[in-house]
Amino acid sequence: SNTILTDDFGRKHNYLRISLLEKCNLRCTYCMPADGIALSPKASLMTADEILAIARIFVENGVDKIRLTGGEPLLRKDFPEIISKLATLGTAISITTNGILIDRHMAVLKEFKVSNINLSLDTLVSSKFHTITLRNQFEKVIDNLHLLLNNDFKVKVNVVLMKGFNENEIADFVQLTRFLPLSVRFIEFMPFAGNEWDRSKMVSQSEILSELAKVFSSEEIQKLEDEKNFTARTFKIKDFQGDFGIISSITNPFCDGCNRIRLTANGKIKNCLFSNSETDLLTPLRNGELITSLISESIRNKKKVRAGMVTTEEMDDPSLHFDNRSMIAIGG
Ligand code: GTP
Ligand code: 5AD
Ligand code: SF4
Repeated sequence: SNTILTDDFGRKHNYLRISLLEKCNLRCTYCMPADGIALSPKASLMTADEILAIARIFVENGVDKIRLTGGEPLLRKDFPEIISKLATLGTAISITTNGILIDRHMAVLKEFKVSNINLSLDTLVSSKFHTITLRNQFEKVIDNLHLLLNNDFKVKVNVVLMKGFNENEIADFVQLTRFLPLSVRFIEFMPFAGNEWDRSKMVSQSEILSELAKVFSSEEIQKLEDEKNFTARTFKIKDFQGDFGIISSITNPFCDGCNRIRLTANGKIKNCLFSNSETDLLTPLRNGELITSLISESIRNKKKVRAGMVTTEEMDDPSLHFDNRSMIAIGG
């Protein structure tokens, strides 16, 4: 049964996103605050066995899709152990990664059929990669993107759009889908603690579509059927191999179909990406207590839209985001 994972609006939470750690080998400015974050003490991070124990309870209650995030999930030294343990639960497992360590983990990804990989890449210009990530790893990421495609992984490329940085690359990213069978997703920049979000820095869904209308005709741009419980509204260019989507959490939210629950690296659940009220599962688990009632209470407290921030004014109020985590400690 999945009743404890069904909320008051009838949404069934069958998709668990687990953050494995709060560290990353890049420093993307929209994700990681310039002064860094206060890291959770090592002892308060879930071990591989604790991740398995908590995930098992979710799976017993209806979760059939698990995504591993971070920070950068492939930086966990015990990543192979975590994957091998979670694989015993029988759900689909996918990861969201910056791609740098993909080659190193290729064998384990194949062995445990982690075949859906979402890869963050915000520019196709080598010299701009450092501006956004503060690291020089562009060639490595591009090589690993091709490695994934050559090995038949299903790849989605996540592109966070920022005014004055990469909005001039929208058409170039779509051109990537001409000969490569991948999905590009353009993401509206979202506010989190310490990322200095401001609506004027965001490129909106309507701006993305008007940018593309300059390059492709309306006959060429085809609307696709969206995935069930989608984050991205999807399109493709006629006769191109891949497709593209727009994740518009700010201007056109998709909360009606939300099936996602998040588990942070220190063992707390968040019922919404924008929620700053979290429920600790790890401490009670370590004390040998049952955690199902805590899970069901968190689900029942979930708000209909964006943790209760329905209006533009609420989304734009920085004070409503201060108490949330930085993205690096949520995992998207
Ligand atoms: P799929 O499982 O392939 O559909 O991936 P996904 O879009 O759920 O996850 P991914 O980690 O690739 O995230 C892509 C972007 O969507 C990131 O900017 C996430 O923050 C955002 N995102 C993912 N899930 C949610 C969500 O539940 N709500 C909102 N508002 N944004 C989300
Ligand atoms: N707004 C939108 N998307 C973000 N991501 C990280 N920070 C933000 C933000 N502030 C995206 C990354 C990654 C995914 C997990 O979340 O690009 O692909
Ligand atoms: Fe779900 Fe919150 Fe994202 Fe809306 S903003 S889709 S409720 S996680």
